[in-house]
Amino acid sequence: MKHLLKMLDLSTEEITEILDLADQLKYELKHGIPHPHLKGKTLGMIFQKASTRTRVSFETGMYQLGGYPLFLSSNDLQIGRGEPVQDTARVLSRYLSGIMIRTFEQKEVEDLAKYGNIPIINGLTDFCHPCQVLADLMTIREFKGKLEGLKMCFIGDGNNMANSLIVGCLKVGMSVSIACPDDYQPPKEILDFAAGYGDKFSMTNSPKEAAKGADVLITDVWASMGQEGEAEKRKQAFAGYQINDELMALANADAMVLHCLPAHREEEITEKVFEAHAKEIFEEAENRLHAQKAVMVKLMA
Ligand code: CP
Ligand code: NVA
Repeated sequence: MKHLLKMLDLSTEEITEILDLADQLKYELKHGIPHPHLKGKTLGMIFQKASTRTRVSFETGMYQLGGYPLFLSSNDLQIGRGEPVQDTARVLSRYLSGIMIRTFEQKEVEDLAKYGNIPIINGLTDFCHPCQVLADLMTIREFKGKLEGLKMCFIGDGNNMANSLIVGCLKVGMSVSIACPDDYQPPKEILDFAAGYGDKFSMTNSPKEAAKGADVLITDVWASMGQEGEAEKRKQAFAGYQINDELMALANADAMVLHCLPAHREEEITEKVFEAHAKEIFEEAENRLHAQKAVMVKLMA
């Protein structure tokens, strides 16, 4: 494993190794056991979109590992003024030990990896959000004691979160059901991957159909970053694609609920369900820190 560009690149064994190391780093942090695996290393963090969790968890995580994080806003970098990614990659490779990037196009992340010679970590693109899904899998395993054989149901937009969840959950032996409107299905690349898993994957227009027997229900905003201009149109398209009491009643009695955050209450999830499952949702947010530290150690130590 040289980079973390998308879940499609990871083997099941690599995912398990990251989750095991994340559990260990979480234990060490809680018990005051130092773990300076990245002493003397630097991580550049390029942000072309807003962030609370990704920025703070990477920055804190790097500090806890003994390394130094640099926040690089695209507003201030020459990349924001059109300097090619090929040149940025070759320059930053000479200063840094690794780069985390949050941007729009997946190609930009892949190009950084192609032209640079240091590990690249995808901190969210329009196509995927692997760091979030590693934290989600860590959280599911923590609450359920296993991953294999569980059913994950995703309600809403076939977006970056849906894409990474489909791939990550199928790779660890879970079954996956997706409920989304026809015009908002995940891209062909993801559906082709999922097709290889036979009846372990299903997609429908009906949230109720998808939620039946689910062990984990997950949703995300109806309009992702960069789609603000379509927010009204999307509100209409996604009406009914909401995690609420009616849907929870169809899932398993002990089903958990996850949300990558930020959440829009009364849109993709009701306030009531959100608060009833706040315990796992905020553990999920915390686990970003531990899962990403594991990724950084694997790639940069
Ligand atoms: N879930 C997540 O990536 O949050 P931020 O956008 O705040 O980083
Ligand atoms: N789908 C959301 C996830 C935010 C963490 C977005 O891309 O804005």
